[in-house]
Amino acid sequence: MRRLRKNSAVRRLLGGTSLSVSNFVYPIFVDENIINKQPIKSMPSQYRYSLKTLVHEVKEIVSLGIPAVILFGIPKVKNDTGSVAYARNGIIQKAVRLLKSNFGNTLAVITDVCLCEYTTHGHCGILKENDVANDETLNALVKIAVSHVEAGADIVAPSSMMDGQVSRIRDGLDKDGFSDVSILAYSAKFASSFYRPFREAVDSKPAFGDRKSYQMSYTNAQESLREVELDITEGADIVMVKPALVYLDVIKVVKGKFSIPLAAYNVSGEYSMIKNASRIGLIDEKEAVLEILTAIKRAGADIIVTYHAKDVAKWLNEGI
Ligand code: PBG
Repeated sequence: MRRLRKNSAVRRLLGGTSLSVSNFVYPIFVDENIINKQPIKSMPSQYRYSLKTLVHEVKEIVSLGIPAVILFGIPKVKNDTGSVAYARNGIIQKAVRLLKSNFGNTLAVITDVCLCEYTTHGHCGILKENDVANDETLNALVKIAVSHVEAGADIVAPSSMMDGQVSRIRDGLDKDGFSDVSILAYSAKFASSFYRPFREAVDSKPAFGDRKSYQMSYTNAQESLREVELDITEGADIVMVKPALVYLDVIKVVKGKFSIPLAAYNVSGEYSMIKNASRIGLIDEKEAVLEILTAIKRAGADIIVTYHAKDVAKWLNEGI
């Protein structure tokens, strides 16, 4: 076997999986409360952007060849029902309009459709008797998705894990004349400890309890196939597995079973572990990031949502 690993040219020839900047989505936090960009303490080298600083940042992302961003909002006011999430002049609606008017079709704008950043209690839906009420939440999710698309979003990404969210959003979009807008469904989203840095970034830690009645259990891989199957039946255009790194098995099985485009979300905790480990010299950041993202792609992800996207794009553009 070593004949085929003889030198770097031979190894490259026999390459196998290679990363491409075209498959990356870069997550961006847009904050209504700030003027200058603010570092996110739990996520080294990541920032919350104001509307004023957003375009400059996205210019760099576009110039690196990254085709898409996914937006998360931090509103000025939160309430019990998270209703600012579908305000016409909400932070995400404004950010989408700004990005589409600046970048047009050179940038695909994806929006996260959820309530947890907008509710005072931090849960992903509307509460009834201290649990998230599925069907009441669906009404809000449809309003959020439509408001994002009215602002110009290309793809909406429902992430609250309510049953029926994809079909209700599909119907809502079609009824309003947006049948050309895609749905990227967070289909297999696990209740994961690896979201913690993100929750600090957007201040969405649940005030009580956890998300285990709507996000999936990591003990149950079988269920993720049912979630994916349902979302496809409901009209999803792209399905997602999240987190990525500790769910490579799920990515692989989903890829083998379904022919729909598959995304994987390399989440905040996975990102911050690498940043901190490399900061104290435990690992080489570039080598570790390339190994991890290649593994996610090798497992079967067509699209990778990752906070490392800008760094990797630079390395790829330099020929690694
Ligand atoms: C919204 C949402 C979350 C993430 C993406 N969308 C948080 C959560 O479910 O608690 C996490 C992303 C990350 O950790 O990078 N529901």
